[in-house]
Amino acid sequence: MKPVLLTGASGNLGRVLAPALAAQGWALRLTDIAAFPDPLPPAASFIRADLADGGAIAQLAEGCGAILHFGGVSVDRPYAEVASPNLDGLHHIYEAARRAGARVVFASSNHGIGFHERTETLDADCAFRPDSYYGLSKAFGELMGRLYWDKHGVENVNLRIGSCLPRPVNARMLSTWLSHGDLTRLVAAAVTAPRTGHCVIWACSANPASFWGRDHRDRLGWAPLDTAESFRAEVGPVVCADPVEERYQGGGYASADYSRTRPAPRDAFSLD
Ligand SMILES: NC(=O)c1ccc[n+]([C@@H]2O[C@H](COP(=O)([O-])OP(=O)(O)OC[C@H]3O[C@@H](n4cnc5c(N)ncnc54)[C@H](O)[C@@H]3O)[C@@H](O)[C@H]2O)c1
Repeated sequence: MKPVLLTGASGNLGRVLAPALAAQGWALRLTDIAAFPDPLPPAASFIRADLADGGAIAQLAEGCGAILHFGGVSVDRPYAEVASPNLDGLHHIYEAARRAGARVVFASSNHGIGFHERTETLDADCAFRPDSYYGLSKAFGELMGRLYWDKHGVENVNLRIGSCLPRPVNARMLSTWLSHGDLTRLVAAAVTAPRTGHCVIWACSANPASFWGRDHRDRLGWAPLDTAESFRAEVGPVVCADPVEERYQGGGYASADYSRTRPAPRDAFSLD
């Protein structure tokens, strides 16, 4: 198996994935703008790089079979902070993948569709309804994958991650939670699947309260093993007092900086 490049290696999920994938015998190239804070896993190297530096990213990807792209701005921030790492940086990743003949596994997010209502059950081909500039950058990333597959045959697996934490910590996460174990198995399946084309996966555990339905997981042979339901009693029935946050799948990202003066119409396609 060729080496695998992991961006965002020093972040929360990078630090989960690096040791877990190394334990499976993978040769990992880790990179991040920040130093890797843990002892290096076996057969792993770390090189510091900024996603804004296309040359450095291309060099890092040389000879790799896959790029796990987990780096960049991972929360709601002003446009100017998001643009370089998440838009230009994403382009650098795809150009590097094209040159290396590598597959991209992209850490996308539910915030690319966060303005869908919680009462909907979405399939992976639903319309993008980003709830923030961050979410918009994830929609851009998925569409970049669409372009590079259609035009250049670069395979890519887009993981619409819900909430990936050790355990769910609020009522919304009973719908969106992804366990660390399910994440690791999903990433491994995304790399080792024989053919993926361009595909989109709802990256959440087997949560009965999920907002999400069909996707392309059959191509990967992946199914989640964990469930947020085991934590229901612990999380409790607490709902948030903000009606916008409660109404939309993106929660607090949808309500942040929300400036419509009256409630949005229930019919999403109404111009009222
Ligand atoms: N954790 C979740 O629940 C969740 C949910 C949805 C999507 N995601 C996505 O998964 C990925 C990882 O999430 P996380 O929780 O580990 O985020 P994180 O913020 O902990 O990690 C992101 C890493 O990217 C690095 N980075 C930022 N700008 C960079 C740049 N210009 N060049 C190089 N590296 C840079 C940071 O130093 C950081 O280590 C992110 O893309 C995030 O959007 C995570």
